[in-house]
Amino acid sequence: MNNIPATVADFEEYARRTMNPGAFGFYIGGADSEVTLRRNIEAYNNLLLRPKVMVDVEQVSIATSILGEKISSPICVAPTAYHALAHHDGEIATARACAAVGTCFCQSTNSNYTMEQVASSVPKEALRWFQIYVQEEQEITQKLVKDCEKAGFKALVVTLDRPRLGKRLHVLRSGFTLPKHLSRANFHGDEENDGSVSYYHGEMYPGMTWKDIKYLKSITKLPIVVKGIFREEDAELAIQYGVDAIIVSNHGGRQLDSCPATIEILPEIVAACKGTKVEVYMDGGIRTGTDVFKALAIGARCVFVGRPALWGLAYQGENGVKQVLNMLNYDFRLTMTLSGCSNVQEIDKSFIASAERYSF
Ligand code: FNR
Repeated sequence: MNNIPATVADFEEYARRTMNPGAFGFYIGGADSEVTLRRNIEAYNNLLLRPKVMVDVEQVSIATSILGEKISSPICVAPTAYHALAHHDGEIATARACAAVGTCFCQSTNSNYTMEQVASSVPKEALRWFQIYVQEEQEITQKLVKDCEKAGFKALVVTLDRPRLGKRLHVLRSGFTLPKHLSRANFHGDEENDGSVSYYHGEMYPGMTWKDIKYLKSITKLPIVVKGIFREEDAELAIQYGVDAIIVSNHGGRQLDSCPATIEILPEIVAACKGTKVEVYMDGGIRTGTDVFKALAIGARCVFVGRPALWGLAYQGENGVKQVLNMLNYDFRLTMTLSGCSNVQEIDKSFIASAERYSF
């Protein structure tokens, strides 16, 4: 890499060279043969853009809103575990960067800093969501929800696609464990760090079903966002159970391998939510401004980035995450400008076509 990173891949390359190899493997890896991980990234290439010309693009706005909250761009930060593996300021640095850029930071259940520590490190108005792994013991779930409300998080993101951990070969082969000085900070009274990032079944809840969404709705007024839906039947159930939004996600290819890319799943979920108030977002493989544009063209209201934020964190902490987000925002704005869109509402399906349309 030259001195100045210009793409997400440049930041990733820096992280590869500088991070502890075990920690880097934990971040970058997917499950099994990583078919889904690769597909998440490659599937964007099957969609081509159809720009409009002779459109006044002197002023281009990338601002939007999610669940009624304004964000400066439709690029938010996905919940990922253990940010202190990349930088000692961990989730505090990531949250501050998101606040500075004006976008939503979604904090993982498995953070190295508590919700309260993150909340008190950013301005009050900074939009924060909390990703919850519903726990087998209702008391612990309830405590997480109460802490999250108290710390001013604006929505609960419930991850559905991890009843057990996917088989992640990087971690299995390196034997990487969470260093002893880092903890799963949100679990008060559970300070014992057994080091495991791979087969820690204690914290899994394979018994989770839609009844748990009902339960969450009975204990909180926070909007419920479900993360990790792959088929329209489940989107319909989510709507029936009263969720406020769906994140189309395959956990960054870290759970069930051989699932389609999220950009391929997105049309089905957008169709299922059509005519309802349920907002649809997506994550997985977003690395460029054109990826974001394609997701919005299919009907996502916003996208979340997982690994790119971690690479920024590894690069320069808060400042590095800011650089990654600013770069993606710049690239997305440029894509809009060159496509002839002056605001995000104008981005629709007419701007994309499958690559087959242009084959000979
Ligand atoms: C994740 N992801 C994740 N999801 C979640 O709901 N809770 C979590 O704690 C984590 N932890 C986590 C750690 C790491 C290292 C990665 C890479 C991912 C999944 C994450 O929210 C998101 O779905 C993907 O990261 C999106 O894919 P990209 O942007 O990484 O390609």
